Amino acid sequence: VNLVCYGVRDVEVEFFKKLNKFNYNLTLVTDLMNDTNVEMAKGADAVMVRGNCKATRTNIEKLASYGVKYLLTRTVGFNHIDLQAVKDCGMKAARVPAYSPNAISELALTLGMMLMRNASYTANKTKDKDFTVDASMFSKEIRNCTVGILGTGKIGLTTAKLFKGLGAHVVAYDVFENEAAKIIVDYLPLDEVLAKSDLVSVHVPFFKDQNYKMINDEFLAKMKDQAVLINTSRGELQDNEAILRALETNKLAGFGTDVFENESTFFFKNLKDQALPNETIEKLINMFPRVLVTPHIGSYTDEALTNMVEISYENLYSFLTQGRCDNEVA
Ligand code: COI
Repeated sequence: VNLVCYGVRDVEVEFFKKLNKFNYNLTLVTDLMNDTNVEMAKGADAVMVRGNCKATRTNIEKLASYGVKYLLTRTVGFNHIDLQAVKDCGMKAARVPAYSPNAISELALTLGMMLMRNASYTANKTKDKDFTVDASMFSKEIRNCTVGILGTGKIGLTTAKLFKGLGAHVVAYDVFENEAAKIIVDYLPLDEVLAKSDLVSVHVPFFKDQNYKMINDEFLAKMKDQAVLINTSRGELQDNEAILRALETNKLAGFGTDVFENESTFFFKNLKDQALPNETIEKLINMFPRVLVTPHIGSYTDEALTNMVEISYENLYSFLTQGRCDNEVA
């Protein structure tokens, strides 16, 4: 069985090889799948992608014409795949509904605590050997803060547990309240979560017709003054202009993000001393250390990668042996 995997970084190669218990004939491609390298899937039975791969209708039709039957995404989110095109081409697709949620939750906690404790500000001064202590370093302790979690799926709930472990009061909003989560969080209406929280961490999937730019001026205006906002889910959820305005007016004290809309036009590239394709994002980056940006590394841990690859291999095995898979998305 020929399996072509896209977006495999050097450190990931050994994971793909050592976890290959079904002995697939692997082709590992470093680059994310795009309009050009999609051709490398000629002769493959299945293709594995990750977020930011271009699983557009055109590319899915190409894959189908090459004889590819299965499209596996080793990600939780599947907003990068044209599911209708997968169906129209008679292909099947599956995702990884959960991999180590701690991977993303620990990043959200880290970005949040760096901003809450002004650690990024402070370290940025001491890197220049300025060891003076100033008022911008003074902070509150998280145990006396309220943390608001938006979205209490596996990742949101894990983030809630981490903050709860530090003694924070954790409130949450989700359209689907989760019974198990009620031990950790107090569910409140969205407006109340925003009004009460010193830190808001977003763990919501992106659905084009439901929550595009849900973090907009109105959302930010409802937040507590001087709060910190963290987004480790999807860039499409945030209106960058609105966030920039909230930072400039000091409504927001800090913003940490692992994601941007159209992030693949600049993430994963070294653009040192070059202008970014988007002026607002450039301005946000320049607000460091109040703005912390990581290039979608939420899932970039040993544990998460192991789960992503293992479960994707199992998804393919299930398709091959049973013609179906529990994790089908199309
Ligand atoms: C996801 O699993 O949804 C991610 O964001 C992972 C990333 C490698 C695209």
